[in-house]
Amino acid sequence: MHVTAARFVKSATRPAHYPAADFPEIAFAGRSNVGKSSLLNVLLQRRNLVRTSSTPGRTQLINFFILNEALSLVDLPGYGFAKVPLAVKNQWGPMVQTYLQSRPTLAALVLLFDIRREPRPDDLQLLDWLEQYQVPTIAVITKADKVGRSQWIARRKAIAEAAGLPVDAFTLFSAQTRQGCDELWERMQVALEQ
Ligand code: GTP
Ligand code: MG
Repeated sequence: MHVTAARFVKSATRPAHYPAADFPEIAFAGRSNVGKSSLLNVLLQRRNLVRTSSTPGRTQLINFFILNEALSLVDLPGYGFAKVPLAVKNQWGPMVQTYLQSRPTLAALVLLFDIRREPRPDDLQLLDWLEQYQVPTIAVITKADKVGRSQWIARRKAIAEAAGLPVDAFTLFSAQTRQGCDELWERMQVALEQ
């Protein structure tokens, strides 16, 4: 995808505040600090359009971006960070479930896993919702640069098994080396054409 224009539209927590559903949409989700915002910056070919942070749990809002006035990309708040206040934690589930159910233009959700970590119960919970609400899922294993190349296959197998998904459903990605960017675009394109 050749990115000619990328812009932030708005942040929202509930449907009344979502921007108009004018374009097909792809959302990005995963644990706090997994690298969602960094991956979005790579896809958008912008160094810092999407705010990244070394402090997990920074993004507590649903952030909407528009690419080439043709495609909407959504950065969902991360989950699973222990130090987030309980009130914030309790908002996450309803906020994300409502989004998944109420966005007619949602074509797919890209779910990120950290190559160094096993999927946790909250990852599996999200996978259940995606199945329940029939949202096509694109699985990504990110931070591939954090482990040696020789471990990629084994890590992908372990994560796929724990997530209950086929190994070839996963794209290996790194925001640092940009590995996997083209493959991810191809998978997104396929989802948009369904
Ligand atoms: P929240 O918004 O808090 O949920 O986090 P996030 O999932 O958006 O993560 P973010 O993109 O902010 O990245 C978190 C940290 O991981 C930052 O310090 C990034 O620089 C780092 N990071 C993200 N992706 C990669 C990657 O592919 N490789 C490496 N080495 N670091 C990465
Ligand atoms: Mg973020």
